[in-house]
Amino acid sequence: MHRRDFSRFLCFGVVVLLINCSASENAEVVTCSGIVPMRHREDKISITDFGGVGDGVTLNTKAFREAIYRIEHLNRTGGTLLYIPSGEYLTGPFNLTSHMTLYFARGAVIKATVDVEQWPLVAPLPSYGRGRERPGGRYMSFIHGDGLHDIIITGENGTIDGQGDIWWNMWRQRTLEFTRPNLIELMNSRSIIISNITFKNSPFWNIHPVYCSDLVVNYVTILAPADSPNTDGIDPDSSSHVCIEDSYISTGDDLVAVKSGWDEYGIAYGHPSRDITIRRLTGSSPFAGIAVGSETSGGVENVLAEHINLFNMGVGIHLKTNIGRGGVIRNITVSDVYMVNARKGIKISGDVGDHPDENYNPNALPVLKDVIIKDVWGEKVQQPGLIKGLKNAPFTGICFFNISLGGATGRRNLPWQCSDVSGGAVQVSPLPCSELTSSQQIGACSSSF
Ligand SMILES: *[C@@H]1O[C@H](CO)[C@@H](O)[C@H](O)[C@H]1NC(C)=O
Ligand SMILES: *[C@@H]1O[C@H](CO)[C@@H](O)[C@H](O)[C@H]1NC(C)=O
Ligand SMILES: *[C@@H]1O[C@H](CO)[C@@H](O)[C@H](O)[C@H]1NC(C)=O
Ligand SMILES: *[C@@H]1O[C@H](CO)[C@@H](O)[C@H](O)[C@H]1NC(C)=O
Ligand SMILES: *[C@@H]1O[C@H](CO)[C@@H](O)[C@H](O)[C@H]1NC(C)=O
Ligand SMILES: *[C@@H]1O[C@H](CO)[C@@H](O)[C@H](O)[C@H]1NC(C)=O
Repeated sequence: MHRRDFSRFLCFGVVVLLINCSASENAEVVTCSGIVPMRHREDKISITDFGGVGDGVTLNTKAFREAIYRIEHLNRTGGTLLYIPSGEYLTGPFNLTSHMTLYFARGAVIKATVDVEQWPLVAPLPSYGRGRERPGGRYMSFIHGDGLHDIIITGENGTIDGQGDIWWNMWRQRTLEFTRPNLIELMNSRSIIISNITFKNSPFWNIHPVYCSDLVVNYVTILAPADSPNTDGIDPDSSSHVCIEDSYISTGDDLVAVKSGWDEYGIAYGHPSRDITIRRLTGSSPFAGIAVGSETSGGVENVLAEHINLFNMGVGIHLKTNIGRGGVIRNITVSDVYMVNARKGIKISGDVGDHPDENYNPNALPVLKDVIIKDVWGEKVQQPGLIKGLKNAPFTGICFFNISLGGATGRRNLPWQCSDVSGGAVQVSPLPCSELTSSQQIGACSSSF
């Protein structure tokens, strides 16, 4: 039975509860989406005014670039809405501008060209020092923005289709010259809403806000095949005040991964991710549901993830970092997670490997502390927890409360495994490792529960 149905069942069964439950059903839904106020734009233009043709074959790059050039130079108070009517608009990548809404009518699809020649290269991110998968520059994202504010991408559940196949095949065949493009990347930007839209078949990461603040992503659907490489859902990177809610993500890599730069480049750039809320997310992936890392060299703090529903997962909750990465990961709370069918419930790892080059500093150890994971319920989870701290930088203040992760039947289930970690575990089943169950350890966590 679904948990919500279960609470209804209780409601109808018990009169006293009925009163309580109907009161709480009327209560306001908790949301962070108010951090960016919605703006309604008086001024509207349509892509068809610029020669846009939604027949799936005409290339519309010029129409998009001209429409957005017009928005930039009209410079209307209150901004301008660019309307995409129903139809399939094939286009090359394009830049957004400030004070604009990109509005997708029902049935509107913009499709990325599969002609690699039409993808300009952009400089590596300073916090990565090189492209994430190939040295040097990287392909511009399909929808791109740098130094912008007041951006809204929304509509009636239209689609942004990255046609990622050709890129995934180049990755598989090792013929990629540069790092694959993200579907959307916004850099150095603020006041952004991405809502009521579907993202499909991204070449690489789907939504990549980097050096951004005040960003809301809600009511989005993000889809890519389970075997598509590196198709992360949403990766807030060196960004703050991010609100991700009410979304469905099913891709070939982490659903949400909070990042902040890579080894010596990320340490030098020193730009953390902080104040990130992830709430009411449902999805599936062979990798992680809620992830922090592995690129966390600028630090990650104040992350809250709650009401997360995961199925057919690699790892439910994964915090990951590495030697040479530096950075402080602290104050991470994950609660109310339901998962069914996962390889691992919770994984916290200090040795995920993968350096940008040989110049990383082996003495730059990461710090990972003050993590609360509570109210987690799972079924068919092969290993409840695997925690591998670093000998010279053990993880501290790792607190688990009210966690029940049932094993898979007829399989080789593994127990909890821990090393170089301190913290506490209360009401955790199966029984966690001794590192987390001594009484003074639990004392350190008691204020968290
Ligand atoms: C847009 O208008 C504002 C004033 O309303 C002005 O400050 C700004 O420079 C203008 N931008 C452009 C690109 O013309
Ligand atoms: C996109 O904007 C950047 C500046 O942020 C500029 O360098 C680049 O030429 C633009 N690319 C396209 C395709 O318009
Ligand atoms: C939006 O479209 C996607 C893909 O077609 C679909 O899976 C999803 O259910 C739709 N969302 C809503 C709210 O209609
Ligand atoms: C997206 O849809 C939801 C649910 O219908 C609605 O509450 C929200 O305001 C919409 N978002 C935008 C930006 O219009
Ligand atoms: C920890 O993060 C939460 C958000 O999850 C925030 O409300 C709280 O103030 C943070 N606490 C500290 C000590 O930074
Ligand atoms: C334990 O977690 C479950 C969700 O998995 C929640 O329904 C229950 O209320 C929690 N119990 C306590 C004592 O917090």
